[in-house]
Amino acid sequence: MLTIAPHIARRARLAGLIGQGVAVVATAPEQVRNADNHFPFRYDSTFHYLTAFPEPEAVLVLMAGESPRSILFCREKDMEREIWDGFRHGPDAAKSLFGFDEAYPIARLDELMPSLLENQPSLYSLLGDDVRWDARLIGWVNTVRGRARSGVSAPEQFADLRRLVGNMRLFKDEHELALMRRAAEISRDAHMRAMRTTRPGMFEYQIEAELLHEFCRQGSRSPAYGSIVAGGANACVLHYGDNHAVLADGDLLLIDAGCEYAGYASDITRTFPVNGRFSGPQRAAYEIVLAAQEAAIEACRPGQHWNQPHDAAVRVLVQGMLDLKLLSGTVDGVIESEAYRQFYMHRTGHWIGMDVHDVGDYKQSGAWRVFEPGMALTVEPGLYIRPADGVPEAYWNIGIRIEDDVVITAQGCDNLTAATPKRVDDIEALMLGH
Ligand code: GLY
Ligand code: MN
Ligand code: MN
Repeated sequence: MLTIAPHIARRARLAGLIGQGVAVVATAPEQVRNADNHFPFRYDSTFHYLTAFPEPEAVLVLMAGESPRSILFCREKDMEREIWDGFRHGPDAAKSLFGFDEAYPIARLDELMPSLLENQPSLYSLLGDDVRWDARLIGWVNTVRGRARSGVSAPEQFADLRRLVGNMRLFKDEHELALMRRAAEISRDAHMRAMRTTRPGMFEYQIEAELLHEFCRQGSRSPAYGSIVAGGANACVLHYGDNHAVLADGDLLLIDAGCEYAGYASDITRTFPVNGRFSGPQRAAYEIVLAAQEAAIEACRPGQHWNQPHDAAVRVLVQGMLDLKLLSGTVDGVIESEAYRQFYMHRTGHWIGMDVHDVGDYKQSGAWRVFEPGMALTVEPGLYIRPADGVPEAYWNIGIRIEDDVVITAQGCDNLTAATPKRVDDIEALMLGH
């Protein structure tokens, strides 16, 4: 069902933040895969956040000021193209259905934009993504400059829209949280399906197929990012994506996969034994990562700053590395020297929302951002133990990550993906069918 009110409200808010000027936001271009085949179309997140309009070749023009106006440029109705490619709203229907003040054919964009920019002090857009788009903006402004003798002035300021919109998108409203909860549920079911299905001798891509089946079966039309299905040593490759190896009895399987649902991402990692039962060393390493993740989640609450979950996770992981004799020394010494980075080399999370690595600043005026209700982030510590001198062989090639998606609330945080099993007993019970 189409819900338009939040999108209209966001345009009004953005117009208020801009004050005076014009914002122009294009949706994403269609991407050729090969010959005359395209990748599935995915709209630009900010464009969708502000419009809900799903078609390619569309541009939002937001006129800020005393009485803000929203203008959509989109494809015209075209029976021939609709027979081949599918339905198009056309400007008239789009205007009423999506709540715009005006709508025009996209083919008229270059003709009409200069007039819309006349006597406006500033032009906001997402600058620097696409040089052709940037050149087009400058072209419109130059056309207005050419009309100087008729008494009009051209925008003097080009401004990047990223920070304004990033700070809006960082705080998820109820409409967004409902979609993120649904994405999280679907991804939970997909991870549970993978745990139930995995057996030694299967290929990683066969487990990927189970994830995709569950995503699509429940109305998600795409993963939010390339799924990582990494058995054994492959789990120590952080961005592994080949997913073509055979799963060996006695190895762990790390799955980092989340669906996109109605434009919103989920991002879950679980690590479990291919044969359903953790070995002693696997379990010892796993419990350390789980404890680190719990400590990090505990630090996700209002008033804490962005880096505190990471610091909490690192402290627990380092104690674990000392306990397993992966490293020697003291917790503070290993943190100080960063020797732990041999086994934990990434950060503990990122903002999540429409994009899996979502917009929003991590620092403000040089200081880590302080958590406030409505911010959504991942919590994803890991331990990656490659063979090396001095590293006990029992732990070689163990790669573990545990990742959940949380939203900061007034009291602490709400873990959207908590129902995806992660305790050793719960994983073993699910996999062994009791
Ligand atoms: N799956 C991408 C990430 O965890 O950041
Ligand atoms: Mn992930
Ligand atoms: Mn992540």
